[in-house]
Amino acid sequence: MKIPAVDFRPLLDATEPAWRARLAELFGRMNFVLGEQVRGFETEFAAAMGAKHCVTVGTGTAAIEIALRDAGIHYPAQEVIAPALTAPFTGVAIASTGARIRFADIDPDTLLLDPEDAAGRATRATAAIVPVHLYGQVCDLLAIRSLARKLGAVVVQDACQAHGVLFRGKPLTAFSPYVAYSFYPTKNLGALGDGGAIVTNHARAAARLSSYRDGGRVPGTQIAGTPGQNSRLDEMQACYLRAFLPKLAEWNAHRARIARIYTAALSGLDGITPVRTSTSVWHLFVVRARRRDKLRQHLASHGIGTGIHYPVPLHLMPAFTGCGLKRGDLPHAEKACKEILSLPLYPYLTEAAAHEVVGRIRQFLGRD
Ligand SMILES: Cc1ncc(COP(=O)(O)O)c(C=O)c1O
Repeated sequence: MKIPAVDFRPLLDATEPAWRARLAELFGRMNFVLGEQVRGFETEFAAAMGAKHCVTVGTGTAAIEIALRDAGIHYPAQEVIAPALTAPFTGVAIASTGARIRFADIDPDTLLLDPEDAAGRATRATAAIVPVHLYGQVCDLLAIRSLARKLGAVVVQDACQAHGVLFRGKPLTAFSPYVAYSFYPTKNLGALGDGGAIVTNHARAAARLSSYRDGGRVPGTQIAGTPGQNSRLDEMQACYLRAFLPKLAEWNAHRARIARIYTAALSGLDGITPVRTSTSVWHLFVVRARRRDKLRQHLASHGIGTGIHYPVPLHLMPAFTGCGLKRGDLPHAEKACKEILSLPLYPYLTEAAAHEVVGRIRQFLGRD
């Protein structure tokens, strides 16, 4: 059986009437940028995330950068704390603001930003913290918020991998003024191209962000009122996102079902450990494996696709050498990067396929 790491086909098939209807509306109106589809999606996505406002932008990277800028983060004298284990785009977004990045280590069990390590690395220059809800898990937002308050820093949540996750039953916007999402195709809610959004409960911030992503223009005019950027979600992507959004809860529930199969079958085996997770929307199912690269090859030889999220911690990537850290400085992130492997997980992945993945892993470990 061939099992890819991700498969979009069934998802497109299941939603075809909905996206075709939206595309027909779009072609009827011929309004291709910042029109009815984007406005409709912004209202629907804000509601789905339990937020008052949503401002869409071109990418998740832009969402993080623009949120930080709106919070006043753009001086080289300012420092932004972020975990070393995340997509490089988190770091790229912070670096684009002009502020300095201070990478912190992760909790060795959950692989999420460790608030205690972050506290130890904070300085008087710390102006923001960017917790990353990695793999669909949710960070300890109470600890992060309390650290931020102590430092007088803003929290911009990177929820690019966590559409729909709650913290202690509450929407993420209850814990910080900005939450950034990506709609990269593989995400729990993905477009068929790039896209991103910031959700917030603050009306004035939403109005500023809305103008900023549109060149800083005064709405409805050709006047640039403030220096901005051109980073807009396009109408066509909004058509797909509006068709997919009503399915998000069902798709997340399916991901959780597959994750339960993996967890039950892989817990307690020697040589492999599922990453411990409390609350998650299961963007990825990640295990730590002693012979990770060999296991990956074994699975590939049986037609099973996997991923590594991520092979190198950000403080050791060439783009971030200026951060001042070297090998050995963030041991938990460095160790995790050598061991982690993401198993196939997506809506419509069958339970039989999940059992096949488990069977091949057990075979590799020499159990069966
Ligand atoms: C954790 C995280 N942050 C930021 C991003 C950036 O999102 P985008 O690719 O939409 O710019 C991604 C996705 O790649 C991500 O997974």
